[in-house]
Amino acid sequence: MKRLPVFPLALCCTLLLHAPALSAEKMLPAPQKDGGPSVLAAIEHRSSAPGDAFPMGAISDEELATLLWAATGRNREGKGWTVPTDMGKAPYCSVYVIGANGIFLYDKEKHALHQIGATDIRAEAAKQDFGKKAPYTLVFVADDRAVARYNKEWGPTLVGAMTQNIYLAAQALGIGARYAANLNEALLRKALKLEPEERPVCIVPLGHF
Ligand SMILES: Cc1cc2nc3c(=O)[nH]c(=O)nc-3n(C[C@H](O)[C@H](O)[C@H](O)COP(=O)(O)O)c2cc1C
Repeated sequence: MKRLPVFPLALCCTLLLHAPALSAEKMLPAPQKDGGPSVLAAIEHRSSAPGDAFPMGAISDEELATLLWAATGRNREGKGWTVPTDMGKAPYCSVYVIGANGIFLYDKEKHALHQIGATDIRAEAAKQDFGKKAPYTLVFVADDRAVARYNKEWGPTLVGAMTQNIYLAAQALGIGARYAANLNEALLRKALKLEPEERPVCIVPLGHF
């Protein structure tokens, strides 16, 4: 009688158990909702972090969670978002996080991250040096399908509201942010597995001062 190949089977199980689970979902810590300067003070003092002296300090999970929530999180039951949207529908722009540990899609309903890739694409996604090295970079992707019957420019309009919230929340947390339209679209389309109607509008590299 043939013996089962015990060692290869065990090896396979071990490999499977340790393979990166790319559909993995990671719940984020609750966002910070108080503290920091007043909104008016944050508006008065906001600026883009300098590209030639970009802050490179690490960003905690809680800070990342706060920035993502500020960009496109829930702030009320029902049709309640931190940004104004067409007829209160769910934000028709997605926010991706790219960092040393891979590529993640922010789930605005669950306040969670879905891993969609395990590679570090920061250096290729950005065309300017500060974006290549920043601890995290957010990628804003407009979905033209959601507003096609009105005006496709509403997607980038929403990205404008989201990114201004990022600037103000980053200001409150002592984090530097810089909006950059200068990005590697072909690379991002492939790595983020985008549909043809989805388009990367900008990236926002982030780093602690
Ligand atoms: C639509 C748009 C595109 C931008 N693209 C880039 C970019 O590709 N690279 C960059 O370094 N900064 C970019 N910026 C940042 C601007 O250069 C910056 O906001 C401007 O110099 C004003 O500085 P402030 O934000 O500190 O007021 C962009 C800003 C906007 C609004």
